[in-house]
Amino acid sequence: MTTLPPDIERTLISADTIQERVQQLAAQIEADYRQADRVRLVGILKGAFIFMADLTRRLSIPHVVDFMAISSYGKSSVSGEVRILMDLREPIAGQHVIIVEDILDTGSTLAYLLHNLQSRGPASLKTCVLVRKERPGLNLPIDYLGFDIPDVWVVGYGLDYAEKHRTLPYIAELKRPSAD
Ligand code: PRP
Repeated sequence: MTTLPPDIERTLISADTIQERVQQLAAQIEADYRQADRVRLVGILKGAFIFMADLTRRLSIPHVVDFMAISSYGKSSVSGEVRILMDLREPIAGQHVIIVEDILDTGSTLAYLLHNLQSRGPASLKTCVLVRKERPGLNLPIDYLGFDIPDVWVVGYGLDYAEKHRTLPYIAELKRPSAD
């Protein structure tokens, strides 16, 4: 059994389970876009870089990757201010686009991205999210979802806590910081 880092409470999703699910998501995407000339996967940095790397290597349909970096403030507020730190390199008008996100937490980032990318005139726009926190009232459209997880602080497989633990191969719950 793997020894967990001291600030990790427990493993939520094992590395094997993640890999299995990524394969299934890739198979779903392949089936849905069999007729498309090409698909553009848009990974949201930094968190999605590992998920994106695994997903894209399992896709055998024609596809290209691009990335955006987003910063969001006021995660606790519903309005959650969001801004683009790094934009796409190329226009997406007329293309089939899939947003690839590691996590849906408050939903502010994805809501912003859907609105922003839709305004650029893609032929289609879908979403692929690895984990979604179970929060009441959150109902953004997710076309390809990996897992629902409890509303706890999670790290691993791209997700960080103060830039730590992004490279863990599994997704884990972080211990709550002690009160002192
Ligand atoms: C995380 C994650 C999503 C966003 C989701 O990014 O990668 O993009 O939060 O949260 P939301 O649903 O509440 O908007 P973060 O801002 O932590 O940056 P990072 O990906 O660079 O770590």
